[in-house]
Amino acid sequence: MDVKVSVGDLTKWSGGAIVVNIFQGVKELGGATGAVDRALDGTISGLIEDGEISGRSGEMTLIHTLGKMSPSRVLVAGLGKQTDFTADTVRSVAAISVRRLRRSAVQRVATIAHGADIAGLDAETVGRAMAEGSALGLYRFDKYKTDSNDHPSLDELTILDLDPDKVAELEGGVSQGIIVADAVTLCRDMVNEPANSMTPTRMAEVALEVANDCGLGIEVLDRPDMAEMSMGALLGVAQGSNEPPKLIVLRYEGDPEDEDNHLGLLGKGITFDSGGLDIKSAAGMARMKGDMAGGAAVIAAMNAIGHLKPKVNVTAIVPATENMPGGRAQRPGDVVRTMNGKTIEIINTDAEGRLVLADAVSYARSLGLMKLVDVATLTGAVVVALGKAYTGAFGNDQDFVDEVVAAGDQAGERVWQLPVYDGYDRQYKSDIADIKNTGGRNAGSIIGAQIIGEFSDGASWVHLDIAGTSTSDSDGGYNPRGPTGTPVRTLIVLAQQMG
Ligand code: BES
Ligand code: ZN
Ligand code: ZN
Repeated sequence: MDVKVSVGDLTKWSGGAIVVNIFQGVKELGGATGAVDRALDGTISGLIEDGEISGRSGEMTLIHTLGKMSPSRVLVAGLGKQTDFTADTVRSVAAISVRRLRRSAVQRVATIAHGADIAGLDAETVGRAMAEGSALGLYRFDKYKTDSNDHPSLDELTILDLDPDKVAELEGGVSQGIIVADAVTLCRDMVNEPANSMTPTRMAEVALEVANDCGLGIEVLDRPDMAEMSMGALLGVAQGSNEPPKLIVLRYEGDPEDEDNHLGLLGKGITFDSGGLDIKSAAGMARMKGDMAGGAAVIAAMNAIGHLKPKVNVTAIVPATENMPGGRAQRPGDVVRTMNGKTIEIINTDAEGRLVLADAVSYARSLGLMKLVDVATLTGAVVVALGKAYTGAFGNDQDFVDEVVAAGDQAGERVWQLPVYDGYDRQYKSDIADIKNTGGRNAGSIIGAQIIGEFSDGASWVHLDIAGTSTSDSDGGYNPRGPTGTPVRTLIVLAQQMG
C-alpha cells in the first residue's frame, strides 16, 4: 500500500472512501469531520444524537453518501476519550479503519490526520503513527496460499489537510513511518516463514539483502570460525542439527567520530526449537519455527536504522541455528566451554537460547561493545508472568533499562521490568562446572536472563524476553493474529534516541 500526503479537501476527494474521526462524548463536530457532516446534511451528528455513534475507541461506522458528496462512503472512526489519546491510539485507529475498508473492497482511501495538534502530538508524530498503523494493520502473509489474488487489497491511503505547513510535517512523519513499517513487515515475514525455509542459511541471506539495501557492513561466521573462537555453547546447540549454524553480524556506522557511541543488538536465532534431546511435547513444539523472532527483529531493525541514519553506531549479532535431537546432539550432563572461558553444564537441552546468547554476548564484548540489548523468545515463564501484553525487561544498569522502557513506550510496545538479583545465583550454580543452564522452576525468566547476564563482563546490558509478545493470538489494532514484529519499533526508537 502507498501512503501519500497532500493539501486538499476531504469532501472533494474522488476515491472510494474517506475516513473522519470523533472523540468520545464530543457533541460539536469541528474541522474536516464537521465539514463532512454538513455535506451529508447532518447525518453524522444525527447518528451521534441517536446514540449509534459514541466515539469510543475502535468504533467504526460506515455511511453511504448516496450522491451527497464525491466519495461514495464515509467511515467515522472513534478515537476514544481525548484524555487517553496517544500516538498509539493513532496507530490503532489507522489500522482498524483500513482493515474495515479493505473488507468492503475499497481500494483508494483518503483520511483526516487523526488528532494532529491534539494532546501534544505534533503532525510529524501523527504522520509516522498513521503510516505505521495502516501498513501494519493491513499486513497478511499469503505467499503460500494458492489463491492469494482473490483477496481484495487496499492500495492507496492519502492523508489530506488544508494547511500546507502541516502537510509538510505529516510528510516527514509518513516517510519515517513507512521505513519502520517495512522493517516490522520484514520481521513478521521472517517469523511467518516455516522452518524448512527460514533456516540459519536463509537468515544470513536475508541479512545480506538488508545490508545491500541500506549499505551496512556484514560478516557471517560459519562453524569453523565458531570453533576457532571457541564458541562451545553455540556449537553445542548446533551439533544436533544437519543445518549449518551461522553467526550473523551487521554493522551500521552512523557516528564514525565517536566509536564509543555504539549500541549492540543481539537476537536469538533458533530457526526451530524441538527442545533437543529434552524434546518438547507436540503442543509445545508446534510454534517453535518462531524461536528466531529475536534475531529477525534485530535484522529488521537494522534495515530501518540503515535508512533513517541516526547519529550512532549499531552492531547487530544473531547466533542462528536449529535445536535438534540428531545423533550428534548434545546430552543433558554435557559441559560446554563458552567463548569467554566460562563453563556451562547442560541440565536441559531445551534451555538453548541462553547458550547461543552466552557466546553472542561474549563475541559482542570481544568487539568492545559496552551497551548491549539482547532480544529472545527465551522462556515460557515470561508468558506466565506477563501474558502477551508486556515484554519482560531485565538489566544490570538501571539508566539503560529506563532508556529501553522509554523507547518501548514511545514506540507503542509495552515493556515491563523484572528484577535481577545476586541471590538468585545459587539456583544455577553447578557441582562440576561454573554454572548450569537452568535453575529449577522458580523465577524461570529471571534465571534465564541472569545466565545471559553472566557474560556481559562489565558492559551495560538489557535483556528483552519476547516469548509472549512476539506473536498475537487474535486480530487487534495494528497487530493481526500471528507474528507482531515486537520489538523492532522499540529498537529503532532506541537507536534514534542515542543518535
Ligand atoms: N523457545 C523456548 C521458550 C518459548 C516458550 C518461546 C514458549 C515461545 C513460547 C525456550 O528455548 C525454552 O524451551 N525454554 C524453556 C526453558 C526451561 C527448559 C528452563 C521453557 O521456557 O520451558
Ligand atoms: Zn528451548
Ligand atoms: Zn528456544
